[in-house]
Parts: sequence; C-alpha cells; structure tokens
Amino acid sequence: MSRKPIIAGNWKMNNNKAEAKELVDGIMYGISQLDGSKMPEVVIAPSYTALWQAYDLIKNEPKIALAAQNVNPNPSGAYTGEVSINMLQDFKVKYVIIGHSERRQMFGETDEFINKKAKAILANSMLPIICCGETLEQREAGVTDSHLASQITKALQGLTSAEVEKSVIAYEPIWAIGTGKSCDSTEANRTIGEIRKVVANLYSQDTADKIRILYGGSVKPSTIVEQMAQSEIDGGLIGGASLKAESFVDLIKGAM
Ligand code: PGA
Repeated sequence: MSRKPIIAGNWKMNNNKAEAKELVDGIMYGISQLDGSKMPEVVIAPSYTALWQAYDLIKNEPKIALAAQNVNPNPSGAYTGEVSINMLQDFKVKYVIIGHSERRQMFGETDEFINKKAKAILANSMLPIICCGETLEQREAGVTDSHLASQITKALQGLTSAEVEKSVIAYEPIWAIGTGKSCDSTEANRTIGEIRKVVANLYSQDTADKIRILYGGSVKPSTIVEQMAQSEIDGGLIGGASLKAESFVDLIKGAM
C-alpha cells in the first residue's frame, strides 16, 4: 500500500510577519532545488496572523499546502477570539491540526469538541490532522495503546470511511514533544501500527491502509530518515525543527 508521505511544519506560536516571510521564502528556495516528483506532500501551519501572507507567497507553488493550527467548528457568531472554517477557506487552507496535546492540556479541549471539529472540517472540504498521544505516566503505566484507541475512536465518531481515508492522524507522544527526546523509531512504528488496527476495527482494513499516520515529537533532520524507513510511519508533524528553512528542507529531503 503506497501512501504519499507528508512533512508538516507546525509553527505553533512563532513567527511574526517578517519572520514568516523569511521562513516561507527559504522553504520555497529550498524546494525549488529538489526533484518535485520525489517530494513528500509539504504542509506548513503558520499562526492565524501569518496565514494571509503565507497564502500569498505560496499561491503559485503547488508543492506547499497550508494548514491552520486550530479552528472553531461553529459556522459564525459570538465566539470571541475564534476563527471559523469559512475564514480559513479564504486562504485555501487544506488541513487543520486538531486535538494537539497543547490544546488538550492548556486549553481544555475535549474528545467531543475535537470530534465536532473533525466533522465540520470534513463537511467543508478541508482535512483534519488529528493528533493523539500519551503522557509519560500513561506510557509507564502500560496504558498507551488503550488511551490512543480511546482518543482515536472518539475523534472519528460518526465519520464515514471515505472521510477517514482522506484524513490524517498524527501520533505525538506528549513526553517527546519539544523535549529533544524522540520516541524510538521501532516503538513509534509499533504504536502507529496499533492505531491503524483501531481504524481497521472501526472501519475496514482498506480504510486503515489508506489513512496517513504521521509521527510527531522532536523529529529532527538527524532522525527523519530512520523514522521514514518504518513501514507504518507516513511522515512527520514537526514543531521546533520546522522553524528554520534549512532544517525544514532537510526534513523534506529526508522523506524523499
Ligand atoms: P516538536 O513538536 O517537533 O517541537 O517536538 C511537535 C508538535 O508538537 O507537533
């Protein structure tokens, strides 16, 4: 089963206008030197305030897709500080990251709210990147697989197999995010295999074979080649190492 790999940069709360321009320009220059036919799908997720500019800079570059880091699932209305799907569509946003552990832990986002976002995103022709991951305590207690099964089952609730097949999951162990301590590649591969089994049980083997599942958590140019060599890992969701054009382009090369 061949699944097109994805290298996605999650900028988090970084990059003002000038910094965003420098980074996008650097990525565009870097990928112009690469063989487009071998490239993974490249995705960047700027903050809302940099989306317009990123959209403008990449609008003639089909090799880069835009993602948003969040969205509110309601169509419009009295939701101070929130951004709707319709607003993201102005910038041809293709993906929306949902269920990131930082949003779950710091902003109290529940599985139910994440599921509501997934449904609204897919109903409006965009695609969710659904994050899941366990804490160190959960891993040490041996409940990683059951915790991930629960997160994924709840996030996918009510979605059709056609919707799930085009969605993306990102497995991001919380203890590996921003710590410099990436999950061992074979263990990440095993865990992602378990997530794929959950999808197979909920839908079918065919659906599980089609959905792309990324690894995230301290992915670096020095780890990506080994990670991409794993049969279950379909790419990376990358925070820190996506903030410099040189290292992000190295990650893209590592996935070729
Ligand atoms: P990191 O972040 O690459 O800085 O660990 C990954 C993420 O949170 O998506």
